[in-house]
Amino acid sequence: MALLRIRGIEKRFGGLRAVDGVGMDIAEGELLGLIGPNGSGKTTLLNVLSGHMRADAGEVSLDGRNVLGLNPTRLTRLGVLRMFQMTRVFNRITAFDNLIVCGMALGLKEAEAGERATELLAELKLSHVMHLDGGQLSGGQKKLLEFGACFMVPPRVALLDEPFAAVHPTMKETMATFIRNRNAQGQTFILVSHDMPVVVELCPRSVCMNTGKVLADGPTQEVLNDRAVIEAYLGENADAGHEEDADA
Ligand SMILES: Nc1ncnc2c1ncn2[C@@H]1O[C@H](COP(=O)(O)OP(=O)(O)O)[C@@H](O)[C@H]1O
Ligand SMILES: [Mg+2]
Repeated sequence: MALLRIRGIEKRFGGLRAVDGVGMDIAEGELLGLIGPNGSGKTTLLNVLSGHMRADAGEVSLDGRNVLGLNPTRLTRLGVLRMFQMTRVFNRITAFDNLIVCGMALGLKEAEAGERATELLAELKLSHVMHLDGGQLSGGQKKLLEFGACFMVPPRVALLDEPFAAVHPTMKETMATFIRNRNAQGQTFILVSHDMPVVVELCPRSVCMNTGKVLADGPTQEVLNDRAVIEAYLGENADAGHEEDADA
């Protein structure tokens, strides 16, 4: 049985079909790439999966249980956790305490949260700034911290929306290594990224969306070589300059 079963998801904004009949299965332990030109509906789909937006139609089940329409808090407790494109950390408490707060909010005892926070900070190469306030961290360090917070209690499925965008290459490598290692331990991911080399390296399978629909679903290299996928991206380049903030 698929860990996450998605069928016929539709999300409209007025007359625009941002997500238009999307379906896919994600198996436990999979690291799925979700790609597609700007405005193709990737973020909207993640918003629906995480409960941040209500779908107009469709079905989503997690471990066979219908979860569509649950709110983000309930979905987080069930283990569907997303990372946003915008960074959100508490500026006036330390990096370490940022993780403790997240862990305790997810039900950990303080001592256990402390152990996991220490491990995560080391894994993300943030140990040297663990006692600095969130507000004193660089943009990249904040992003890494927020990323780490998603794993204080490993989710059933982690939804990552452009985690590498505007991140220094060294930190990008740290994040990519983290994703690879956690996936090797069985963590399930959906990774939205425009960074094709990283998607090729990390994701055995990818789904490409365009205009709200699934254009291709299969082994990543095959998806990237798919004629319709290439045309969708060429179309995006032809429009470049007109849609600068479509992905905001
Ligand atoms: N809250 C919103 N209100 C109206 N239109 C939106 C909203 N969010 C996204 N859209 C539109 O839905 C389409 C898909 O957007 P999005 O899911 O952000 O695409 P992607 O993440 O693939 O770049 C775009 O045309 C976008 O402008
Ligand atoms: Mg997006």
